[in-house]
Amino acid sequence: MIVREVKTMTKALLIGNGAREHAIAEALVRDGASLKAFMNKYNPGIVSLCKGDYRIGKLDDFKHVSSFGKDCDFAVVGPEAPLVVGIANALESSGIPVVGPKIETAQLEGSKVFARSLLDKYKVPGNIEFKTFEDMDGIDEFMDVLGLDRVVVKPDGLTGGKGVKVFGEHLHSKKDVIDYCQDIFAGNGRLIIEEKLDGEEFTLQTFVDGKDILGSPIVQDHKRAYEGDEGPNTGGMGSYSMDDHLMPFISKDDLKDALNTMHEVVISVEKETGTPYKGFLYGQFMKTRDGIKLVEFNVRFGDPEAMNVLPILETSFVEICQGIVEGNLRDVRASFRKVATVVKYLAPRGYPVNPVAGEPIEVDVGGLSSLGARFYYASVDRDEQGDIITSTSRTMGILGTGETLADAERIAEKGTSMVKGKLFHRKDIGTATLLQKRVDHVQSL
Ligand code: AMP
Ligand code: GLY
Repeated sequence: MIVREVKTMTKALLIGNGAREHAIAEALVRDGASLKAFMNKYNPGIVSLCKGDYRIGKLDDFKHVSSFGKDCDFAVVGPEAPLVVGIANALESSGIPVVGPKIETAQLEGSKVFARSLLDKYKVPGNIEFKTFEDMDGIDEFMDVLGLDRVVVKPDGLTGGKGVKVFGEHLHSKKDVIDYCQDIFAGNGRLIIEEKLDGEEFTLQTFVDGKDILGSPIVQDHKRAYEGDEGPNTGGMGSYSMDDHLMPFISKDDLKDALNTMHEVVISVEKETGTPYKGFLYGQFMKTRDGIKLVEFNVRFGDPEAMNVLPILETSFVEICQGIVEGNLRDVRASFRKVATVVKYLAPRGYPVNPVAGEPIEVDVGGLSSLGARFYYASVDRDEQGDIITSTSRTMGILGTGETLADAERIAEKGTSMVKGKLFHRKDIGTATLLQKRVDHVQSL
């Protein structure tokens, strides 16, 4: 790893403990910061990067986080959950600047009603037809307006990606839709019903300082557990990006449209709340027959998508973080190596339905390094001897980079064989066959 020199040693507080945070930690240390980490769970990769200067605790225990991080120049918050309940407000009140939005603007992810209504009110391009409901009144009529087979139901709050139900996938009749809405209301929730989109999804991750945004290479994630996009939804089984930072089915103009939507939402959210948006902003978009449409915002980097972009950042991540908190990203550059990337997630056998936890894993660190692959720990535990064992969630991401997607895929795939244990991964992620399927899908729209 090349460690770039910075004039004075910056001390950064990292909050979180997944593979996304391992990639963030690596980028901070690579670019000259010293690191402290506040984690919910032990991550061996982060522990090694922060040289043991870590604390395990609840990420929403703001007092504990603030007192642990009080000597840091800034904090970087990895996951959304502490952001939507105000960790940035709490840390800033204690004098720690935060790369991550305050509670007011974090509602872009925390409330789907807030996000869609904001786009609607400020006429931000990329929005779709939707309606908010607090009870069953009017749901039947709106199903008729959209057409039953074009209905998507979303609970309003954070659901860890498991709350969205799409007609034809999870809902198969009017009764299914009504039952699901009633379930949500029974839990005291509100919901939105929106039109179902058809197209290819992609992720655009940006750095935001309240006014300006800087983009990063477009990435495509794979939500389904098994090859050929079969099986249950997961947190994401792997992702890829291309050497030109676009996709064969996403043009420069499409990227411009997506960036424009993100920039306009940054301006609009400050108009609405009086609070500038500072941090990372993740746009999940779909390329449809009618152009680029917004699926959702996340107020953080993606997991696995952080592993596709942060390791190939050529400019300083520390300077970008400083630019975000100081509000001067205009003077900072974010440029990325012109390489393709493939991330394959290794998950415990049986994940996500019935994962085998507590199984030993053995990582051939030397083998991975001589192959040129990188690895990022996600969710692991330690046994009584201190050895790493699987937990119930994804275990680790393996990253391959290369001049072409085929090179990157070969490295990532070979890398997966250098981790031994009761694990599985999707062999098809990053392959030419799967990419062609995406291209054909867009052409058929
Ligand atoms: P979200 O939590 O909003 O990202 O939704 C999870 C997943 O559900 C998305 O990544 C899409 O695959 C799918 N999804 C969400 N909204 C829509 C929509 N309006 N049309 C089709 N699929 C959707
Ligand atoms: N890869 C999906 C997410 O980070 O939300």
